[in-house]
Amino acid sequence: MILTVGGEKGGPGKTTIATNLAAIATQNDVDVLLINTDPQDSAGYWASNRMSIYPANKQISCISLRGDTIAKDIQDLSQRYKVVIIDAGGRDSVELRASLVVTELFLIPLRPSQFDVWTLPKLQELLVMVSPINPSIKAFVVANQVHPTSFDRARLEMQNLLSEYPKIHLLKAMLGSRAAYQNAICEGLSVTEMLKKDLKANSEILGLYSEVFNEA
Ligand SMILES: Nc1ncnc2c1ncn2[C@@H]1O[C@H](COP(=O)(O)OP(=O)(O)O)[C@@H](O)[C@H]1O
Ligand SMILES: [Mg+2]
Repeated sequence: MILTVGGEKGGPGKTTIATNLAAIATQNDVDVLLINTDPQDSAGYWASNRMSIYPANKQISCISLRGDTIAKDIQDLSQRYKVVIIDAGGRDSVELRASLVVTELFLIPLRPSQFDVWTLPKLQELLVMVSPINPSIKAFVVANQVHPTSFDRARLEMQNLLSEYPKIHLLKAMLGSRAAYQNAICEGLSVTEMLKKDLKANSEILGLYSEVFNEA
């Protein structure tokens, strides 16, 4: 299964979500590869922090791929791993386009009430472009960094916005704005692996994991 976590903007939580999903897959004994195509390589730093801070934890292979020929590499790697998760960076790049050509699921984190939603027309355009080559691609938005007391409002706002974009669906799972996500990423962990767990973050991310992998 190939999952691309991407979008058209920096900051909505692509790396946070890609790394959490990869760590939960690993906890569930699913053979996972994290691919970073973002020049910032935050996913690579996360994986190397994990190795140096928690060497006894199950480690996660993370590689960087660049250029417009990576579709073939991703496809080859997907034969060797049950799940490939691509952290595709925050702009319309050749890497994002190449990833979308071979991906089954395109997961787009968006922050409600932020400039992120202005990227939707561009993302819809990319999906229209890639659909003839990859007709089975499915695209989902996950609302991230939602104010913990505004989930209902954020859901309505997102549903309204997305009604104009028939190719992009809203996931039920939403992630609150919580320090646990920041703390976990600094340590190379998922929120589910933290010793002192934030139970809300824990259940949100597990909800996202099961929704994403049930869609596959
Ligand atoms: N749900 C969340 N709650 C709190 N902070 C978050 C959450 N998701 C992401 N962040 C923080 O927002 C910043 C950007 O997240 P990141 O995953 O690096 O975004 P991207 O990869 O899309 O640029 C990071 O500091 C990260 O810790
Ligand atoms: Mg990132």
